Amino acid sequence: MKTRCLVTLALLVVLAAGCQKSLKSTRTFRLPDGDPIRGKAAFIALKCVNCHTVDGVELPKPTEPAEKTLALGGKVARLRTYGDLLTSIVHPAASLSDALTLQQQKKMEKTPMPSVNDMMTVKELIDLVAFIQPRYVRLDPLYEIDYPTGP
Ligand code: HEC
Repeated sequence: MKTRCLVTLALLVVLAAGCQKSLKSTRTFRLPDGDPIRGKAAFIALKCVNCHTVDGVELPKPTEPAEKTLALGGKVARLRTYGDLLTSIVHPAASLSDALTLQQQKKMEKTPMPSVNDMMTVKELIDLVAFIQPRYVRLDPLYEIDYPTGP
């Protein structure tokens, strides 16, 4: 009897954890199509050019250039999904910690990338991703990763 209670309890805990996870699911998250031309304008207006160049795109020189710049786009081993890029923009520290263990994360500095969430409109966010995403090309077909498409 006691064992059965424990098993039931364990099952409930597992189920509850499962439920919580699914409530955070972004599977059904869809944004409308963005406009890459407006995305480029937003990229300049939001001062992304201070730290980033974009492969194959001519951009004005930054007004306050950062010490280090990071090129967005170009040849990469792993293409960035829509979700990757949205997260990089609205939650920069999260993308930084993606592949690291908790210990490594603690050791790492905070990302220098500022949050623009208070300044950016949702439309700008959508357009930014439409502008940036096509700039990434796969390094080698061997690295191809199949991302599941919508349901
Ligand atoms: C002060 C410098 C700085 C500014 C300004 C900045 N970024 Fe970044 N960004 C970074 C750094 C550094 C990284 C590398 C990862 C990290 O540290 O978060 C990064 C990473 C990214 C990535 C992920 C790149 C990849 O290949 O995975 C995207 C996308 C991005 N930034 C977009 C933007 C956009 C859009 C803006 C403007 C709204 C912006 N950034 C403004 C510094 C900056």
